[in-house]
Amino acid sequence: MSTALIIGASRGIGFALAQEYLAGGWRVLATARTSADMEKLSALGAHPLLLDVLDLNDCAALGWRLDDEKIEVAILNAGVLGSRTSGLTAPGAEEFNLVMQTNVLAAMRLLPIVAPMVNERHGRLAVISSAMGSLSMRTDASSWLYRASKAALNSVLLDVALSYPEMVSIAMHPGWVRTGMGGDQAPLSVQQSAAGIRATIAQRSVADNGRFFNYDGSQLTW
Ligand SMILES: NC(=O)c1ccc[n+]([C@@H]2O[C@H](COP(=O)([O-])OP(=O)(O)OC[C@H]3O[C@@H](n4cnc5c(N)ncnc54)[C@H](OP(=O)(O)O)[C@@H]3O)[C@@H](O)[C@H]2O)c1
Repeated sequence: MSTALIIGASRGIGFALAQEYLAGGWRVLATARTSADMEKLSALGAHPLLLDVLDLNDCAALGWRLDDEKIEVAILNAGVLGSRTSGLTAPGAEEFNLVMQTNVLAAMRLLPIVAPMVNERHGRLAVISSAMGSLSMRTDASSWLYRASKAALNSVLLDVALSYPEMVSIAMHPGWVRTGMGGDQAPLSVQQSAAGIRATIAQRSVADNGRFFNYDGSQLTW
């Protein structure tokens, strides 16, 4: 049985990804940061792991928690939006740190632990980025702190891809999805997004290493 690791699976797209891989017959390791969410994931049939991606000790402990695991697919999904801004509103230091540490620093702490495990299996690793992080597709400056954080996450992903050329490392846009972050007006359900993400990851080969994909499998530009 293949194993998928979903980092940030308590709700939204991450929870739907755990459901999606379980429904596909996978063994799922799913992280959450509260015991209530871990129980929820356990009830689903996943193996819950405690992880607050802002906690240095939790990040370091993930290495030994995953000891002996064979991971075919790893998805770094945890992320925060910060304030919805429309112009060039300077963020406060606290908000800057929250968004950058959750979306970028956590990736730079966790991927050095997770990537070698996925590489051992010649597996697939995806970070859930956002089209809002693309420089080439940008047409407005809304939520610029979030955009900057996802652009930085894309840079981190490229460095992982260069470091592990024999596995598949990709960035993904999950679509605009009805979640706490995406809001009620978003066109996609979490199930549609998660199904698209799983299919897109499954269809990728080493030739796709270091690329950016939409949830529907189409390629995006950085
Ligand atoms: N929804 C969209 O339209 C959309 C579009 C583009 C990209 N994305 C990206 O998709 C990913 C999932 O978003 P979503 O829409 O599902 O958002 P969401 O419903 O707000 O869920 C965010 C997830 O990230 C986790 N998380 C946040 N901070 C964390 C921390 N410090 N430690 C551990 N987990 C943490 C949350 O856990 P808690 O429950 O513990 O807070 C939750 O599981 C994010 O990376 C987001 O940027 C979403």
